[in-house]
Amino acid sequence: LKLVIKLGGFLFSPKPRINLIRSYVSKLKGLYEEGHNVVVIVGGGKQARDYIKMARTLGADEASCDQIGINVSRLNAMLLTAHLGLAAYPTPPKSVEEALRALRLGKIVVMGGLTPGHSTDAVAALMAEMLNADVLIRTLDVDGIYTCDPKRRADSKRYEKITLNELYKLLMEGKFWAGTYPLFDLVALKIIERSRIRTYFVDGRDPSNVDKVLKGLPVGTRLVV
Ligand code: UTP
Repeated sequence: LKLVIKLGGFLFSPKPRINLIRSYVSKLKGLYEEGHNVVVIVGGGKQARDYIKMARTLGADEASCDQIGINVSRLNAMLLTAHLGLAAYPTPPKSVEEALRALRLGKIVVMGGLTPGHSTDAVAALMAEMLNADVLIRTLDVDGIYTCDPKRRADSKRYEKITLNELYKLLMEGKFWAGTYPLFDLVALKIIERSRIRTYFVDGRDPSNVDKVLKGLPVGTRLVV
């Protein structure tokens, strides 16, 4: 299979979840050894937001703030690459072309952001599109997409499946500045829509959810495309 997995930046900051990172590395190696093509996109997390906040305070424009976020997500990607060893392409690719070349070398590709104006979700969607991926898995620090923020509202309910229109509506309520992509990026959703990419939102705190998606078991929230 051709898999694209976006790992949320919550793995790395505010508190590095070392055991969880190790579990993902074993899982990714396992998938690679089974012969799957694996692309992993890593988010910048709180560290990216903190750096962006500092840059903005110092007067940086939004695109430069984005560039800072991209660099933080690449640093996180390098942490994962370091632990993956020879199974992974040694540096985070800086373009989709480089990522595709890295895949042809038969390596796991671990990357962060690419260009300003969107988040790493859009990078994951682009990679899934170019690879004609069988599935795109977006990990979250909750167990799926909810009707409203489950950390703020006790009456919020998880969607087992969500339509593109329902997700657009949820996302339109948010703000899209550097460092503040709420839940998911609209650019990513547009790419998923135009190429009908099979997409799941799952709880990233449990790496076995990746297996559940691959086995077709119900998990998290499935996007109806
Ligand atoms: P993230 O993708 O990490 O943002 O990129 P996020 O939505 O907060 O994701 P998680 O929660 O960490 O998984 C951090 C910032 O880097 C810039 C954006 O400003 C984004 O908010 N960025 C990232 C880009 O401009 N382009 C990219 O390709 C990636």
